[in-house]
Amino acid sequence: MNLRIPGPTPLPPSVREAQRKQMINHRGPEFGEIIAEVTDHLKQFFQSKNDLLILTGSGTGAMEAALVNTLSAGERAMVVSIGNFGDRFAEIARRFGIDLVKVDFPMGQAADPDEIARRLDADPAVTTVVVTHNETSTGVTNDLAALAGVVKQRDKLLIVDGISSIGSIAVLTDEWGCDVVLSGSQKGWMAPPGLAFASVSPLAWERHARATLPRFYWDFTQAKRYIEHGETPWTPAVSVMYALREGLRLLVDEGCEQVFARHARIARYCRERVASLGLKLFADPPHASNTVTAFCTPEGIDSRAIAKELEEEYDTVLALGQGSITKTTMRIGHLGWVSEADIDAAIHPLGEVISHVAPVSTR
Ligand SMILES: Cc1ncc(COP(=O)(O)O)c(C=O)c1O
Repeated sequence: MNLRIPGPTPLPPSVREAQRKQMINHRGPEFGEIIAEVTDHLKQFFQSKNDLLILTGSGTGAMEAALVNTLSAGERAMVVSIGNFGDRFAEIARRFGIDLVKVDFPMGQAADPDEIARRLDADPAVTTVVVTHNETSTGVTNDLAALAGVVKQRDKLLIVDGISSIGSIAVLTDEWGCDVVLSGSQKGWMAPPGLAFASVSPLAWERHARATLPRFYWDFTQAKRYIEHGETPWTPAVSVMYALREGLRLLVDEGCEQVFARHARIARYCRERVASLGLKLFADPPHASNTVTAFCTPEGIDSRAIAKELEEEYDTVLALGQGSITKTTMRIGHLGWVSEADIDAAIHPLGEVISHVAPVSTR
């Protein structure tokens, strides 16, 4: 199957082999060595010397963890949303009783740093800003360096959802001053779902010390205490760790800069190929993502009809759009273990299908 969704992503053969290993004691020295190696390699891609915590759960768990570890009920936080995953972060904040200021930008567009600066200046009670780096629902990458500059000039805590970018797109966590940065194993890391990562800055630890939202499973204090001894507080996803160690070895062998350059090159190639079919790209071009390409279905054609035929007739799986653009957009994932040939293998059947799928009214 040509699985071209923005996570879970296909696993290279050596990663598949690694995850088949027998269980070991998750509190023994062998697992401690795996944690040490994985942490070191993750930090290279997070471009950070901050603490790097490994959590067992999916990316959404890490989003919840970021909030409950740094905020208190009634504290004012700004969530910048450019799509579905920004909306999800805002919803988690709302459920936990955070005094939410949501700043929305139109789907397909990136957040405007000047607008964020204006909003922060008009609202000094905001202590924390939450930003999605790469909005997987629309295929848009925010200018994180510029946004972080605005947030840091105003001494706010910066939480970044880098779930579908870190490991594939450069993020200078420490240089830009990103305080909590999140990712998930099933994205560019070439590992199965089940683990999430959070880098935590000294400022985030200060906030953590006074944050009072309830936390137990996600408590960063516990995660840090255990990881320093080569353990996790709770039983970890051991098989995913085996796979992640191998995925990271492959990425480190390739080299961070080479990995980022490959993603940029393949993303460009994918956009060119999609456009060559006469399909309209969804993202504002200067902010088009290097890990996922969203495009509009031809007028009147439902994304689900295209996806169904692609899967049934061509064994190719693309992602539907999300939220209000589910029917009218589709997405091609190109992160992790991906080459131009994988893009060709998706574009060819896509061209065949759109040339004859019967128009269905969706708008
Ligand atoms: C940008 C972004 N944020 C959050 C998530 C949520 O992660 P998960 O599905 O692992 O809970 C995803 C993954 O789909 C994502 O792409």
